[in-house]
Amino acid sequence: IRETEELQLKDEKVTLTIDGRDYTVPKGLTVLEAARMVDIEIPSLCYLKDINEVGVCRVCVVEVEGARNLQASCVYPVREGLKVRTNTERVRRARKTAVSLLLSNHHRECTTCIRNLNCELQNVADNLGIRNIPFTGEMPNYGYHDNNPAIQRDYNKCINCRRCMAICNKIQECYVYSPLNRGLDTVIAPGFKKDLSEISCIMCGQCVIACPTGSLSEKEHINEVWEAISDPELV
Ligand code: FES
Repeated sequence: IRETEELQLKDEKVTLTIDGRDYTVPKGLTVLEAARMVDIEIPSLCYLKDINEVGVCRVCVVEVEGARNLQASCVYPVREGLKVRTNTERVRRARKTAVSLLLSNHHRECTTCIRNLNCELQNVADNLGIRNIPFTGEMPNYGYHDNNPAIQRDYNKCINCRRCMAICNKIQECYVYSPLNRGLDTVIAPGFKKDLSEISCIMCGQCVIACPTGSLSEKEHINEVWEAISDPELV
């Protein structure tokens, strides 16, 4: 039934105004999807199409006519006559604040991070022109876990986007991750912070692909291979 409903929604259209221009798009899209469909870029971090549409990072906020507060475009549905502005001063300031707050307690070791130059957080921060962080505070010290053959987890780079959890639950159905603790202590991790080798993880690596930062990464053994190659005893 859900598929039939989705097909019907694709056939129905709505016209909305984005940044002063009218666009006709399929009903059922979010503002973020509609904007991207017409090549208007809105940054996002926690959004993962059809998998994690939870509106927690606030990086994708836009101005919606008639709404007092900025709205997360990744969870805001299009409708007939909707008027949206995606790049006003207020929007840019809010996005900058949201990303600066994420960076303020992020272990920013970009040059040595496995995701350097391939990091969504780094890209978003760069595109927003963030060159210094105006907020200082306590840095988390949740630790680094790699007591398994395939996946390493650096909790101190987790931005709580929940993409790992969503893909693990909805696609792999392994239910490895969940939010632990509350408030500033929140971290997305296996229950009791166990290592992946101690629970139902199948080491598929989907969470690594979904992670927008260097918090989850695959283990590499390149240095061990080089050492083995240059070891005369092994030749
Ligand atoms: Fe929309 Fe995170 S991408 S709130």
